[in-house]
Amino acid sequence: MRIVSIVGARPQFVKLAPVAAAASAAGVEHVIVHTGQHYDPMLSDVFFRDLGIPDADVHLGVGSGSHGVQTGAILAAMDDVLETAAPDWVLVYGDTNSTLAGALSAVKLHLPVAHLEAGLRSRNRRMPEEHNRVLTDHAADLCLAPTEAAMSHLAAEGLAERSMLVGDVMTDVLHLVRDRVADAPAPLADELGMGDGEYSLATIHRAENTDDPRRLERIVEGLASSPHPIVLLAHPRLVAKARDAGIELGRGAIRVREPLAYPQLVRAVLGSRGVVTDSGGLQKEAFLLRVPCTTVRTETEWAETVDLGWNVLANTPEEIAAATERPRPADTDAAPYGDGRAAERVIDALSARRA
Ligand code: UD1
Repeated sequence: MRIVSIVGARPQFVKLAPVAAAASAAGVEHVIVHTGQHYDPMLSDVFFRDLGIPDADVHLGVGSGSHGVQTGAILAAMDDVLETAAPDWVLVYGDTNSTLAGALSAVKLHLPVAHLEAGLRSRNRRMPEEHNRVLTDHAADLCLAPTEAAMSHLAAEGLAERSMLVGDVMTDVLHLVRDRVADAPAPLADELGMGDGEYSLATIHRAENTDDPRRLERIVEGLASSPHPIVLLAHPRLVAKARDAGIELGRGAIRVREPLAYPQLVRAVLGSRGVVTDSGGLQKEAFLLRVPCTTVRTETEWAETVDLGWNVLANTPEEIAAATERPRPADTDAAPYGDGRAAERVIDALSARRA
């Protein structure tokens, strides 16, 4: 069996890592296509290096652009790649422009396409990720869902028969990396002269938070007024949008820093008192590491983290600052994201349903 994985953005490389390992263990031929949506070494190369992912077989190098330009450039480049590879399955990941373009390209060539992390819904039609995931689910022949909630969303949209619960592949990789770094030194804390538990870690990069200067200013105000230090791992989109809007990021409680590689991020979360983010992956990672999370959004796709008390939504400056100071919630043994063996199930599902 031959699978083509299409990836392009940071969270997709994390999801690819356990899938690539499971494909290799099962003796499955696995072709990796990197669209080039993310190209900075800290958003791309370090993930391949640190997570032991084989180099991409094909690199499309599309780079940044408006949604239409970026999605279209990937779509235009994919026909040749998929026709040459002639895979049994095309596997697309998550909800980025690379996901949608990969899925569209595959269906138009009549190649079976599977969507990993299917069925998540925010119901927020202003999010580019929401369009990408809904359209990809409906284009896919097989929807591989991370949670029971995702399975019910797929069923409600008439997709039950082509859906399968496999668990969350980010949990697979997080378990492995956590065990590797848990007792390792804490380079971020050392660099900032802070001990474990003295800082919160923040990331903000979603278009709905960065692209409206008034909203961005209020978020930065909330972080800056926290009573304890906030280490802001600044995504290039945030830096660019703040600069354009004349918003100073490094003020008050905020210490600005470049994004971290994955193992360092996991170590930094373990050493933090809390996480403030609009990233989907980081909300889940904080929960799995049992670190309280504050999500700067009006809704979340990972509702289990909120229901279990480990995540709160915060939008005003006052809500954000207050949430960073809240006490730890009650411990829980709940495991809504699976047992850390989702990638094996993905490869099994693709093998079993090979056309
Ligand atoms: C994309 C995904 C988002 C995901 C995020 C993870 C879409 C619609 N969004 O958002 O779902 O959570 O990746 O990080 O696909 N840039 C660089 N270097 C890079 C890449 C981007 O400087 O390597 C800058 C460029 O100014 C670019 C901007 O970041 O215009 C946005 O990049 P883009 O790929 O459009 O989306 P993200 O915001 O990264």
